[in-house]
Formats: sequence, C-alpha cells, structure tokens
Amino acid sequence: MPSMKSIITKRLGVIFALLSFIVIVAITLGFRQISIENAKDKAIAMAEIIKAGLTAHMKSGVMENRDYFLNEIKSTYNVNNINIIRSDEVNKQFGTSSLEKEIDNNSKYVFETKKPFFNLHEQQNEASLHAYIPYIASNKNTLKCLECHNVQEGSVLGVVEIDIDLSQYKSLSITYIIAILLFLIFFIIFTLLKSIKTINEHIVKPLESLIDKFEHSVLNYTKIDSTHFETKELIKTVDEVNQLIDLIHNKNQELEIKNIELKELNLEIEETLKETLTSIGMIAEHRSKETANHVKRVGEFSKLIAYKLGFSDDEAELMYISSQLHDIGKIAIADELLLKNGKLTPEEYKRVQFHAQIGYEMLRYSERKILKASSVIALEHHEKYDGTGYPNGKSGEDIHIYGRIVAVCDVLDALSSKRCYKDAWPFDEVMDYIKGQSGLHFDPTIVNIVLECKEDIRRIMVEFKD
Ligand SMILES: [Fe+2]
Ligand SMILES: [Fe+2]
Repeated sequence: MPSMKSIITKRLGVIFALLSFIVIVAITLGFRQISIENAKDKAIAMAEIIKAGLTAHMKSGVMENRDYFLNEIKSTYNVNNINIIRSDEVNKQFGTSSLEKEIDNNSKYVFETKKPFFNLHEQQNEASLHAYIPYIASNKNTLKCLECHNVQEGSVLGVVEIDIDLSQYKSLSITYIIAILLFLIFFIIFTLLKSIKTINEHIVKPLESLIDKFEHSVLNYTKIDSTHFETKELIKTVDEVNQLIDLIHNKNQELEIKNIELKELNLEIEETLKETLTSIGMIAEHRSKETANHVKRVGEFSKLIAYKLGFSDDEAELMYISSQLHDIGKIAIADELLLKNGKLTPEEYKRVQFHAQIGYEMLRYSERKILKASSVIALEHHEKYDGTGYPNGKSGEDIHIYGRIVAVCDVLDALSSKRCYKDAWPFDEVMDYIKGQSGLHFDPTIVNIVLECKEDIRRIMVEFKD
C-alpha cells in the first residue's frame, strides 16, 4: 500500500518532469529562432555596409583593393565567406571580372524575386547561415546608383552572398540549456522536498493525530477540540467526526438498553425453562406419590455436591436442573404399578425399573446440554457403586458422576420424607444409613461430602419442606 507521500511525490515528479521537458524544448526552439533571426538581420546589415563600401571603392577607382575591405568585414563579424555576384546587365556594361562569383541557382532566385534568400546549414556541432542579399539599384538614396549604372530603377545590380558562422551561438545555447536544466533539477528537488515537508506537517501528522483523538473520543465520549488543527479542511473534518462520535454514542446507548432488555429476556427464558423442567420432574414424581418439593430438594442437594466436587458455576447449575428430571421415565409407567398398595411382584418391579431406560430414551436425542445430562441421570440414578443396581449393573466410576450424585440425593430425600407407606426417618438415622452404604450403594467420595455438609443438607430440607 503506497503512502500519501509517495503518491504525491510521484505525481509531482511526473508533472515537473513534463514541465521541464516543455520548458527545455521551448527555450531550445526559441533560442535557435532568435539566433537565426539575429543572423539574418546581421547579414542584411552587413550587405548594406558591403554595398556602401564597394560603391566607395568603385567611385574612388580602387575596386582591385576591395578584398582587403571584405577580409576586414569577414574577420570583424565572424563570417566564413563573402561573395559578390554581378547581374548580367552590370557585366554587360563593365565587362566580367574574375573577382565576382558566377550566378548559381540560389542567386538566380534572388535576381528574379528581388528578395533576400537564407539557407541554414547544420552539422553536429557546426552551424552556418547562407544569406543572399539583393543589391537593388535606386536613384532615391544617397548612392544614386543610376548615375553610373545603365539599368532601370529597382532592378537587381548584384547579390551579396554571406556565409555567417553560427557555431558559437550553438555552443552558447547548449551551455545555457544545460544551465537551465541544472537549475530546473535543483528547483524540482527543492520543491519536492518542500512539498513532502508541507504534506507531513499539514496533512499526515494532523491526520494521525485526528485518528488518535478519534479513538480516545469514541472510547471516552469526549468531543475532539478543533482548535488543535490549522487548516479549514481539517477543522471541517473534525466537526464531522464530532457529529459521528455523537451518533456512535447514541447508537451505543441504544445498544446498551437493548442489551439489558435482551439479558432480562434471556433470564426470563432461562427461569421459565427451569420452572418448566422442575414442573415436568414434579409431574413424573407425582405419579408415584412423591411429594412436590422432592425434585427441588434433589436439585439443591445435587448442586451442593457438584460445588463440593469442584464443578464450575455453570456445571453446578446444570446439575441442579437436570437432576430434577431423574424420574421422567415414570410418565410411561402404568398407574396400577406406581400406585399399587402392597408389594410389587418381581415381574411388576422389573416393569417399574424400566423407567430408567425410558427416561434415557426420551431425552437422549436432544442436542441441549441440560437434556443430555438429564438423559444420563435418568439412566444411571438407580445404578449402585458395587454393581448391584439397575438397569445395566454398572459399578464404581463406570457410572457417570451425574448418576452417582443423584443416586445419593434421591435416596437421601426419600428416606427423610414422609410417604403414605412410611414415616420420615430421623435425620441422624438417614445419615447413618448413607454412611453405611458407602462403597455399596453409593460412591464413598460423595458419601463423605454428604457427611461433611450435614448442616447445609438440613437447611435445604427446612427451606423446601413439603
Ligand atoms: Fe427413579
Ligand atoms: Fe426420585
């Protein structure tokens, strides 16, 4: 992920590079054009001087000495070559001269058009401008050409061919361009560094600070102080962020209220479920004339023992509810067996015992933790530690700990309660019985807990008295 600095640096770099290229091209072309125009003006000015000089030579009758004059001009004005080309009329009047050059294509063009003609030669480091300037006859100027020349006003007497050396201009322009290029590079680097510094100071750092302040403000519900920021854009952003913080705070409050409502609802559902399961447990027990609070006491005893065995709060609560369904299977046992006065036949007793398996089958397919635990308890609460219980004759720790806990609690409560066929046993006798069954009917560890917690058990019995 590129940083803001690198993106802006790249963009500015491209813009500056493009700008530099345009500037260099414009300066190069401009410099070249100025040099050419300057050379043209120079050629025209020189042609005027040559015209005047040659006329003076001619009038003084020293035309044969004109080379000295032309060489002086050449060396003074940095000219490669100067040639004089006479018109056919002049040659006719004065005769041909070996000093003059013959008419070629370029000079012929100037004789015809009467206009200067320029030709630029460029080769690597060398450059020169070939100029052909017409010498137009006139009697209107001070030279009074027509006094000597037998030609018409405005006709071309001759052409001055000047080859001006531009190499110096070329090397000078290259030097200037390099200097400008160096300046531009320096300017670009300076501007980029300055831009990065500005971006850092006025964008990146304030943004980082805004993010820090935003986190702090959302957590503590405080507004961000916009006076910490300088630019109009950031101050506007801070105002918008403050509005956002308000919105978040309001939403949070709404969420908290909803959460509380949801918790209350959950609690309500949980309580309803507990009461429902207790009621189901009671219905099952009621069919065999067990008292209403029997299941509640079994639940309380089981929870107490679970805590003493080191179960967590959740597991102890699970034990409290699921133990209340230990006799759920009795729902499926016929009334004449459950309510029979007098002793059951071995066959009938076997059918009553079947309530453990039925309870298990009723609950075993549930995915709910409570009902799964209840199914184990329903199946194993009549198993005995020494292996003489039912339905599977399991022994010792093969019996699930839930089953071992409820086995003790169920008998403990049954003995302590009054039934239609028996009186309630005195508390100490019940405790003696439980102690006597340690390692036989009951798990010795659980028996020890029961004996240690006599007072708690007595308190539960009083609290949930029938
Ligand atoms: Fe039972
Ligand atoms: Fe029971």
